[in-house]
Amino acid sequence: MIITILNCDKEYGIGKRNGLLFTLKEDMKFFRETTSGHVVAMGENTLLSFPGSKPLKNRTNIVLSQDPSHNYEGVINVHTFEDFLSKIKEFALKEDVYIIGGASMYRQTLPYVDKVLLTKVDAIGGAEVFFVNIDEDPNFECVYESEPIQDGDYKIKFTTYLNKAKKEI
Ligand SMILES: NC(=O)c1ccc[n+]([C@@H]2O[C@H](COP(=O)([O-])OP(=O)(O)OC[C@H]3O[C@@H](n4cnc5c(N)ncnc54)[C@H](OP(=O)(O)O)[C@@H]3O)[C@@H](O)[C@H]2O)c1
Repeated sequence: MIITILNCDKEYGIGKRNGLLFTLKEDMKFFRETTSGHVVAMGENTLLSFPGSKPLKNRTNIVLSQDPSHNYEGVINVHTFEDFLSKIKEFALKEDVYIIGGASMYRQTLPYVDKVLLTKVDAIGGAEVFFVNIDEDPNFECVYESEPIQDGDYKIKFTTYLNKAKKEI
């Protein structure tokens, strides 16, 4: 399966200054446990937003950057969106592939994903980059919403949306 995973605020905001909006211990744990042992696919800015710009451990990392001279150690580097999609397709035949950001990758890959694991944060984080308003997208159906849980200073809910109009790569 191809699965988008992210968190957003009440305005579907996901990041600012190439970083996350919130520090969320429980959500980070969920992200780590869900994606560990699988494939994670991302845009270059998201890789650069990680500590030391290092890939995520215990996962196969696929990174899309437009500049062909940008090649990072320990990741599968691709330089066109078509190559990004074909790598995802190749891995998804055998295992789960998680789209882990950022904003530009979430938007471009949305038609091709099976589902979206969205953690909703009950706050406004002053975002500069946004996810789509998935609740108003007729292609997506919310099939799960957890009770609110306290994560540090914030109330969060784990949700799952299915793509009813998934496009094959
Ligand atoms: N809340 C969450 O769960 C979450 C998760 C991950 C990331 N984020 C946040 O999202 C933000 C980063 O998002 P972003 O949209 O700026 O960056 P991004 O999607 O991580 O990366 C964009 C990069 O991918 C390249 N790219 C994108 N589309 C391409 C295409 N079709 N062909 C070739 N290259 C392409 C861009 O190249 P060019 O610039 O050369 O076009 C750029 O280098 C950060 O604030 C981060 O913290 C939030």
